Amino acid sequence: MGSEAPLEQELEALLEEARKGFSEASSALGLEELRTKYLGRHGALSGYFPRLKEPGLAPEEKARLGRKLNQVKEELETLLARRRSSLASTAAPVSSGEDLTLPGTPPAVGRLHPLTQTIGEIIRIFRLLGFSVVEGPEVETERYNFEALNIPVEHPSRENFDTFYLETPKPFLLRSHTSPVQIRFMETHKPPFQIVVPGRVFRPDAVDASHSFQFHQVEGLCVAPGVTFGDLKGVLTAWAQGMFGEMSRLRFRPHFFPFTEPSAEADLSCTLCQAKGCRVCGGKGWLEILGCGMVHPAVFRAVGYPKQTVGFAFGMGVERIAMLKHGVEDIRLFFENDLRFLQQFP
Ligand code: DAH
Repeated sequence: MGSEAPLEQELEALLEEARKGFSEASSALGLEELRTKYLGRHGALSGYFPRLKEPGLAPEEKARLGRKLNQVKEELETLLARRRSSLASTAAPVSSGEDLTLPGTPPAVGRLHPLTQTIGEIIRIFRLLGFSVVEGPEVETERYNFEALNIPVEHPSRENFDTFYLETPKPFLLRSHTSPVQIRFMETHKPPFQIVVPGRVFRPDAVDASHSFQFHQVEGLCVAPGVTFGDLKGVLTAWAQGMFGEMSRLRFRPHFFPFTEPSAEADLSCTLCQAKGCRVCGGKGWLEILGCGMVHPAVFRAVGYPKQTVGFAFGMGVERIAMLKHGVEDIRLFFENDLRFLQQFP
């Protein structure tokens, strides 16, 4: 009995040392080294098994020592397995292959739509020229969209194929231009004033590369004693040079609008070839960009202004200007919300 006790004590001490070692192991590799040291084929524990075969060992001592050895071995294996799984769970994020030192993914930042940017640029320049910005409703009555603007009942723009009428109540429609805001503003303000009116307009046009059932305009109106067609030309030319560059020129061609007299269409010298003629302007040198004129006396009459009132007005299409400025060839691109297009306008 006396000789058995030290052996068992030795095993106890070995177990204690191994417990401490396992609990302090901080990596799978370190743990594997400890496994080899205690449980490996040439490890500490394996040295005890041959002793079971030593001659002169009483059968009951042999049995006791065998039980003890197995008990120690089992406990070491259990401790090892537990430590292995706890190391694996804490090490998971790093061992999953993600590099935590890489910079993060920046959140996508929004930007203004190219048409909003174009409207902003158009009115920024008019503000520098002394204009204020005014807006009006998209749903209008026939009086504001047509009558007060001197557009007679037989005018084609009043036909169903040129205007969206709302089913009920009948007299309402989606405005076909921003000109009705001229009337709304004059009804509530006295001259002198100069305003620009950005906004969306609607026409039942079939959609193609240059037509859309909705588009945008910027309307202009200046009413002040003594203003002339010369002022109109000066203001629009200054605006065009701010918008398209100092080399830009405008050419005015006689035209007809019911709400102005005289009326004109203005062409911009081609931004690419400076009016020499190229692919962009179709060899013509000029690009049509707006309508304008001196406000018709019938319009002033409709809002109750005195007979001697004078003023000029103009209206331009925003999509057309954006297309000219950025070389966009299809109006539909503005309305499809395709980020590959929109992200090109930072
Ligand atoms: N309202 C016209 C249109 O939609 C554009 C226009 C032309 C507006 C001449 C004006 C103007 O104020 O003077 O076609």
